[in-house]
Amino acid sequence: MSKSLTVLDFFCGAGGFSEGFKQLGFDVVYGADNWNPAIQTFKANNSDAEVVKVDVLELSATDVPKADVIIGGPPCTEFSGSNRGGSGNVKEGMELVKRFLYYVHELKPRWWIMENVPRLLQTLPPKFRLKDLGIDKEGIFEIPKMQVFNAADFGAPQKRTRLLSGKYPNPLQTHSENPVVTLNGQKLSHWFTMRKVIESFPNPLNEPRKGKHVKDPNYNFNVTEMKLEDHFGDHSIMKDEEAERNKRQKTEHPYYGKMKFPDDLDRPSRTVMATQFNASRETMVIAMSNNGRKIIYRKPTIRECASLQCYPINYKFIGTNPTTKYKLVGNSVPVKLSMAVAKAILREAGMRTRKN
Ligand SMILES: C[S@@+](CC[C@H](N)C(=O)[O-])C[C@H]1O[C@@H](n2cnc3c(N)ncnc32)[C@H](O)[C@@H]1O
Repeated sequence: MSKSLTVLDFFCGAGGFSEGFKQLGFDVVYGADNWNPAIQTFKANNSDAEVVKVDVLELSATDVPKADVIIGGPPCTEFSGSNRGGSGNVKEGMELVKRFLYYVHELKPRWWIMENVPRLLQTLPPKFRLKDLGIDKEGIFEIPKMQVFNAADFGAPQKRTRLLSGKYPNPLQTHSENPVVTLNGQKLSHWFTMRKVIESFPNPLNEPRKGKHVKDPNYNFNVTEMKLEDHFGDHSIMKDEEAERNKRQKTEHPYYGKMKFPDDLDRPSRTVMATQFNASRETMVIAMSNNGRKIIYRKPTIRECASLQCYPINYKFIGTNPTTKYKLVGNSVPVKLSMAVAKAILREAGMRTRKN
């Protein structure tokens, strides 16, 4: 049997990017982040990996093991259109991007992928002088590929576009808004809807029931309601006045276009955000009949957001409050997008997938 390919994850967060590789049998050997909840979460789900709490700017390539694949998602708030009108500190964000490229240059993996918001395309040059990456040599470092993908095209129940820069083979699209037969005769599936996720879970306001199971909307396994974490309780419920304010933001905004209120469940969800402000236009809102009584409005629970990001329903998130857990989840690369790239790498390496 061939040996597994190894993966290093810089800015590992909760581990969505790594999880896609792990699902396909890669060996995730290392994760680095400077935020405690991220480190604890990554450790809880990757017990065999070396997980270090460190400022990636302070670390050196000699401190890190070599691996076949280097992945990483330097924080995107600095480049995100939804952050402070897009005027975040781009320079600060670019320092972290350059540090990631420094590791790639020094560790020379066969494949590497850096994930960011598409907006980075406006500021990311395709070439850097080695000196600008902190390498004391003459020469140029070139980014071979920069391409934007929509996670919904790879089976995620979420429309989330992400820029993947690096050296990797193209992932094969499996889903589409308007499925057509592709040139090789393979039919694409229809985009996965938010409804399939939301309807997989019981009413979060009820108590978990003994002996009842929840089927994972993305993968073929169940857990009992008693073991389902981050779903039950009232953390997702919006107060009436919050829902009303959100409705006005979406339907009566003076200059931005109208948005659906509540969200349309028969499409993939909008982008899962790291912060859940009730009055934000980006907040997802679900209408729910509370056990046959009046309609109440709520956000997706932490677990529902995790499934929109395609985490398996037994994935553990370690944080002391819902805000931290929503952030861990919302920061992540959708696992199905990461799996699609991992699968393409296995194909290029001439190796078979363990699953799928
Ligand atoms: C976008 S998230 C990464 C999400 C991850 N790729 C996933 O799929 O779950 C960015 C992460 O970078 C971490 N981070 C920010 N600045 C850092 C630094 N200087 N050193 C190490 N980690 C840093 C944050 O704590 C955050 O967890």
